[in-house]
Amino acid sequence: MIKKQNLYYPLNKFKQNAVMNSKEIYKTANKNPIKFWDGLAKQLFWEKQYTKIFAHNPPYFQWFVNGKINITSNIFENNSNGFENIKNKTAMIWEPEPIDEKSKTFTYWEMYQEMNRVANSLKKLGVKKGDRIGIYMPMIPEAIIAMLACARIGAIHVVVFSAFSSSALRVRLQETKAKVLITTDGYYRRGKVIDLKKNADEGIKQTDIKKVIVVKRAKNKVKMKKSRDCWYADLIKKQSDNCRAKIMDSEDTLFILYTSGSTGKPKGCVHTCGGYTVQAKFSGKWIFDWQDNNSDIFWSMADLGWVTGHTYSCYSPLLNATSFLIFEGAPNTPKPDRWAQIIEKYKITIFYTSPTAVRMFAKYGVKMIKKYKFNFLRLLGSVGEPIDEASWKWYFNNIGKKRCPIVDTWWQTETGGILITSLPGIGPFKPSFTGIPFPGLKFEILDEKGKKLPAMKQGNLVLRPPFCPGLLRGVYKNSKKYLDTYWSEYGKKVYFTSDGAIQNKQGLIRIIGRIDDVIKVAGHRLTTGEMEDAITGIKDVSECAVIGILDEIKGEVPVVFVVSASAVSSASLASSENVSPLEKRSPNIDEQIIAKLRKDIGPIAKPKQIYLVDDLPKTRSGKIMRRILKKLFTGENLGDLSTLANPQSVASIKKTLNKK
Ligand code: WT7
Repeated sequence: MIKKQNLYYPLNKFKQNAVMNSKEIYKTANKNPIKFWDGLAKQLFWEKQYTKIFAHNPPYFQWFVNGKINITSNIFENNSNGFENIKNKTAMIWEPEPIDEKSKTFTYWEMYQEMNRVANSLKKLGVKKGDRIGIYMPMIPEAIIAMLACARIGAIHVVVFSAFSSSALRVRLQETKAKVLITTDGYYRRGKVIDLKKNADEGIKQTDIKKVIVVKRAKNKVKMKKSRDCWYADLIKKQSDNCRAKIMDSEDTLFILYTSGSTGKPKGCVHTCGGYTVQAKFSGKWIFDWQDNNSDIFWSMADLGWVTGHTYSCYSPLLNATSFLIFEGAPNTPKPDRWAQIIEKYKITIFYTSPTAVRMFAKYGVKMIKKYKFNFLRLLGSVGEPIDEASWKWYFNNIGKKRCPIVDTWWQTETGGILITSLPGIGPFKPSFTGIPFPGLKFEILDEKGKKLPAMKQGNLVLRPPFCPGLLRGVYKNSKKYLDTYWSEYGKKVYFTSDGAIQNKQGLIRIIGRIDDVIKVAGHRLTTGEMEDAITGIKDVSECAVIGILDEIKGEVPVVFVVSASAVSSASLASSENVSPLEKRSPNIDEQIIAKLRKDIGPIAKPKQIYLVDDLPKTRSGKIMRRILKKLFTGENLGDLSTLANPQSVASIKKTLNKK
């Protein structure tokens, strides 16, 4: 890239060939965003044209009103690249984790046929438009096929991350009243076979699940319940490979994806058929620079269980007729350079990963990747958390070889697609700044009272109408939460992101991080509240607080402070016996907490430290002051403690921290 006064710009060669290389687009789009999105939407195939582009009845809004569309027909038979042209093109390459197992590829035609077989199977099981289908699968081709099959017939997929626990699965299946679950026997992760079917069996207890479709992946021994479970291969082999796309209303639900909110319970973000399709198609096309008839090989490392997986490991590359790779395993398994091997072996041209992964690669050192030239790479991406300057530079120098632009992409489960990043053919790029909002988006940074802040002043990041076509339309079965979370802080016409941000004079936005209780562990979204709910479910625990602490690799990690019921009761005893209550700590409270978090949430919720304390700092109204705990942990100045109801708790916690 070209560097000018600390800003980076794409090389001329890149710029000339880029899908979007003219700054003018920002002016035209921002002048009339509704018209801008209309221009893009028109390039898709609509069964029936929409009659209104955008309708707003705050806080509710609609896009492409009365339009009829199906996302899968835009991927296959009505792809803008022409189905005949892409039929024999590779759609998906699957790399299994075991190094001695063969990869698999699917052409667009093969994927189309398999999707139809699965769609017909679902229909045979009685699945109808609007029914919810649970998908609890690892990164294997059938997971993507399953999502597409749902979309084909208008069923709503609810993908649950395969590393989530059975309890997390259960909550999502219960709330959505899903009747069918698609899962696998097992899968490979870090050399081990994970018994997913066992988790699934546990997770579907007390749900409405009537049928479980099981893909044979790891060939581990599983129990099949005759009336309920069936093998995927047996089910689909009898089915026709023809299935007409269900004609969907623009505002019909395409999928529900749960994400952590500001309280304990996860929220089901509702995404629609019309708006999401438009945004998935064009955000990918412009940001990952996918020309029509491109020969790119795109690799997004994101798991399908997260929104990045939905949009950029599935729908967006497919809508753009791009070849893409998915990988089953961990990027450092069996050897730390597995990811680099994959890039070389498949001649990946665009690589999209997280800052956590980059920090992990960097930690292994450049020696490890010396033998890799990365000659085919032309563009890099980052997502999920802020990328610090040192990691950005490492990524830029050692993987991108100073040649590839890095699109640092900001977005959320709620937004459906990338909203902030400089376009690769335009720039500018600046390490630790995510970039300029996508054309047509009205982002602002506001102070607490709602006043727009000038450049370089930190405030809250908001999006003004007409927002974007892919923004969530609701929180499933919880309209109050939808209102409270997104449309209350600044009224019903301003979408509140819950992120703190700064915008510099060139218009580049720097994301500071969440201002609610969401923490990002290795880019994965967790709420301290949901962890606290799990921990307080332990008999011995009377109170707890979870905070996010900076971590060298994972960005943030949870640290737990816990008040144990038995320790509390022994405190009075202790004063007479002259023994510190901490000595009386129940011997396995740490193990109990770790096990409970694993059971209720999953392994990503594993805390870095657990502290047993006598009391937690609280306000007079009883609110736990996590901010103070954080400062105590990092050793920062505590500031004014006069609002605390129990200032003595602070000294005691300090002592505990010093001990460990
Ligand atoms: C939160 C959303 C949607 C992609 C995956 C995460 C943080 C996301 C960036 C970035 C700094 C980022 C924000 C946001 N975030 N991308 N490029 N730079 N922070 O989706 O799990 O819904 O999390 O991730 O805090 O609000 P998510």
